[in-house]
Amino acid sequence: MDQAVTAKEDALRLYGEHINAKRVDGWQRVGLGLVEHRREGCYVWDADGTRYIDCFGGAGCFNVGRANPVIRQALIDAMANEDLGDFMLISDAKAQLAHRLSEITPGDLDYVMYGVGGGEVNDYAIKLARGVTGKTEIIAMEQAYHGHTGFALGAIGRERYQAPFLPMVPGFLHVPFNDLAAVENAMTENTAAIMLEPILGEGGIHVASQEFISGLRELCDRTGALLIFDEVQTAWGRTGKMFCSEHYGVVPDIMTVGKSLGGGIYPIAAAIFRRHLQPFNEAHPYIHLSTFGGSDLGCRVGLATIDYILDEDLCGRSASMGDLLMGKLRQLQSAHPQVMKEIRGKGLMIGLQFTDDAHGPRMTKLLAKRGILAIFSGNETSVMRLMLPLIVDEDTVNEVANGIGDAVAELAERAAQG
Ligand SMILES: Cc1ncc(COP(=O)(O)O)c(C=O)c1O
Repeated sequence: MDQAVTAKEDALRLYGEHINAKRVDGWQRVGLGLVEHRREGCYVWDADGTRYIDCFGGAGCFNVGRANPVIRQALIDAMANEDLGDFMLISDAKAQLAHRLSEITPGDLDYVMYGVGGGEVNDYAIKLARGVTGKTEIIAMEQAYHGHTGFALGAIGRERYQAPFLPMVPGFLHVPFNDLAAVENAMTENTAAIMLEPILGEGGIHVASQEFISGLRELCDRTGALLIFDEVQTAWGRTGKMFCSEHYGVVPDIMTVGKSLGGGIYPIAAAIFRRHLQPFNEAHPYIHLSTFGGSDLGCRVGLATIDYILDEDLCGRSASMGDLLMGKLRQLQSAHPQVMKEIRGKGLMIGLQFTDDAHGPRMTKLLAKRGILAIFSGNETSVMRLMLPLIVDEDTVNEVANGIGDAVAELAERAAQG
């Protein structure tokens, strides 16, 4: 048998035998039983040689493209001299990245706590909010996603992920997204923080309104509760600005980032917070420790990634390519209103809302057949998420739009036949 086919079958079999057979089955059913092999720019190749345009991008992990050679070289250079670094000690890499983060983030978001992933830094954000305020309640959003770790799991707005592990850490309340009155009603004297993604990612690409975000800031200023933005998906140019908060002109008290900070090459995440919260950390300097969080290699990669995003103006490109794609999708939507309900998003964080919950998985399959890797939203399966690498060019955007057009036409035809 062909070597590539054998390698693919081996990977599928071993994954099923030792990680999870249900996952293999599930991906195969929606046409994505591929085994990631070569990766480059906007593309990923299945082990059998089939090429896909990566429109999922690890939910915001590959803003600088797959296997970016500049970022890879930064990691290789760092490895020539450094290792992970001792998490208890001080290093140039850790200090330089923290300084850079304070320079590029809005307002006085000047202090940093590193972690390995988004869940961990969200845990820390919640700990910091409780520690600083001495209060316990966290108001989070229905359909929110903040990760699968302890505190973050309590903050997500989907019981399915929590049910087997009850009781959760107490103190989390969930309110509808974009509903300022609901937040206000939920607030008590014991509210430590309001936590949200400025664009609900897993929850189906719902964009926060200006009114909502400005209102939350005012509410927090008035009551002393802290405003936490989870920008794990929305940061690093994804929405057309370096950070999504910049669209609103609002500075949160704590902002969490991860995913593309690691340039798609090496894991690193951070909670970045305002100056007025730092005294708590000075009083408790070892209150959060993470052996691999903010490793020296991760910090070097983070520094290189930030430079790359700025040098290549990926924020500008995200805005212009996002407009182009969104325009084409809106045309499609007006041609097929029976299956396409709405197009929403900012920059290259785009959601296609279909008219039926089953259409998301169906579209994943129809797109996979056309060499487009796109995954429906975990918390709202009627929504297809599009999060292309920000390095994408016009030709590739056109190719994606044509592929989606073709797939939507097939979906509409099948829907019409019942
Ligand atoms: C908004 C948001 N927050 C947190 C997380 C969790 O990040 P991680 O998987 O790195 O723990 C994710 C992951 O997709 C996310 O989308």
